[in-house]
Amino acid sequence: MIIAVASDHGGFALKDAVKLHLLEKGIEVADLGTYNEDSVDYPEFGKKCAEEVASGKADKGIVCCGTGIGISIAANKVKGIRCALCVNEEMAEMASKHNNANMISMGGRILDTETALKIVDTWLNTEFEGGRHKRRTDMLDAM
Ligand code: RB5
Repeated sequence: MIIAVASDHGGFALKDAVKLHLLEKGIEVADLGTYNEDSVDYPEFGKKCAEEVASGKADKGIVCCGTGIGISIAANKVKGIRCALCVNEEMAEMASKHNNANMISMGGRILDTETALKIVDTWLNTEFEGGRHKRRTDMLDAM
């Protein structure tokens, strides 16, 4: 499995912590930037990561900005992307179970690293339930 990660400056430190966490678990990571805390624009990085997932180059994507909001909006503009903004483990669980989220978004200025890494693990370890939820995610994908 390849996971693409990206952030703006507000999510840079969290993105790097997530990257390290994934590498320690033996997961291949494609780091699409940003690579320091200089100010950049989150739409560019959300789009880049989403396109990596939508094209199939990466299996899933994780994006971070200050709140996680802007970069999730950017990612969800790309067809085929279901990017879920997560602030706790329950949201991460539901993002997989009900929404089959192929990306998650988190806020570097909102979350502590420990919570963020639990969100990542919960999202990765939870299966999509399918059934009635599949009909709804199909509706999303058709938009
Ligand atoms: C950048 O200052 C900040 O606006 C951005 O990281 C993010 O929080 C936007 O949603």
